[in-house]
Amino acid sequence: MKILVTGGAGYIGSHTCVELLNAGHDIVMVDNLSNSSEKSIDRVKEITRKDFEFYKCDILDYDGLTKVFDENKFDSVIHFAGFKAVGESCEKPIEYYHNNMTGTFILLRVMKEHGVKNIVFSSSATVYGIPESVPIKEDAPLFAINPYGSTKLMLERALSDVQSADKEMSVVLLRYFNPIGAHESGMIGEDPNGIPNNLLPYVAQVAVGRLPKVNVFGNNYPTPDGTGVRDYIHITDLALGHLKAVEKKTGVSGVHIYNLGTGQGYSVLEIIKAFGKAAGKEIPYEIAPNRPGDAAICYADATKAKEELGWRAERGIEKMCADAWNWQSKNPDGYR
Ligand code: NAD
Ligand code: UFG
Repeated sequence: MKILVTGGAGYIGSHTCVELLNAGHDIVMVDNLSNSSEKSIDRVKEITRKDFEFYKCDILDYDGLTKVFDENKFDSVIHFAGFKAVGESCEKPIEYYHNNMTGTFILLRVMKEHGVKNIVFSSSATVYGIPESVPIKEDAPLFAINPYGSTKLMLERALSDVQSADKEMSVVLLRYFNPIGAHESGMIGEDPNGIPNNLLPYVAQVAVGRLPKVNVFGNNYPTPDGTGVRDYIHITDLALGHLKAVEKKTGVSGVHIYNLGTGQGYSVLEIIKAFGKAAGKEIPYEIAPNRPGDAAICYADATKAKEELGWRAERGIEKMCADAWNWQSKNPDGYR
């Protein structure tokens, strides 16, 4: 298949491109490099020993995107491009709504004009808000608790409406839980700008000496050790979930929704311990105030993806931490 990958230079996109290329698909990548480095593209080529076309293009640029579609005939689009930082979305809601929503609308318009009817969209477990119960199934109640989450929830609805108006379309909504780790080569990985917001890159930067200690956001949650519990999933397993989704659902009309998680939760302290073991060092930490808006426990019921896509996460927490450490220690300053 020939697949357009928007946001392909980013964390999840680059790992997904590796798996698509390894499986023999042709890809074309579009990214404006607003939150990524061109080096990740070179490294995807190095890992796979395959070449592909990259367009430095903003999805908000209708003419630029039209050119990409004029020059290529796509079977499907995997749409990662967007902004993703929850805290920043509260400070810059207009930028978040514009980039994530308008960008997707322009992409959908260009797809329609070129008769491309298959899209896989990066949604998030954030659409479950603060979950009422765990494990979370796809039919759990949905609500947004910040502007970033609103963009995902509204785009899920918009994509479903677009599919209702054109019954030939295939829309896959993938709700990711917490992707961590890196490709096992250590050549590509997560490279956040500035001080990381998410736990794993923060712990990794403490381990490598860039930050002094981890702040554990609260130890008074109703969890076994009092710290927040999440469903961490190896980035390669997540990438393979996209491969399965595009292979199984291209040409299968409808709206297909899947949780991509492991179904297992780990606490903040368990993660710090597992990462320390992988890195062979103690990770200093301190209990800090709870972060507003954080759920106590969030993990997936990923049975539907197993039954319908034939996909399940296979890499455990040790491998996630070992690969994250391999990437961080080989690239202490990320791609810089
Ligand atoms: P990322 O920032 O590493 O990748 C996103 C890529 O999109 C970047 O390379 C960025 O330069 C590009 N981009 C942003 N706006 C663009 C635009 N207007 N035009 C072209 N390119 C643009 O983020 P990621 O972690 O790889 O996330 C990919 C997708 O998955 C995002 O939509 C994100 O919201 C979603 N998601 C991520 C997580 C997570 O924890 N990482 C969890 C759930 C969902
Ligand atoms: N945490 C800390 N210290 C830190 C960072 C995080 O203790 O420095 C804790 C949080 O309180 C939480 C857990 O670690 O209990 C995980 O936090 P992350 O920020 O890594 O991840 P979240 O579950 O809060 O959110 C992430 C993405 C969202 C996405 C969600 C579900 O940031 O965009 O996963 O996929 F919606």
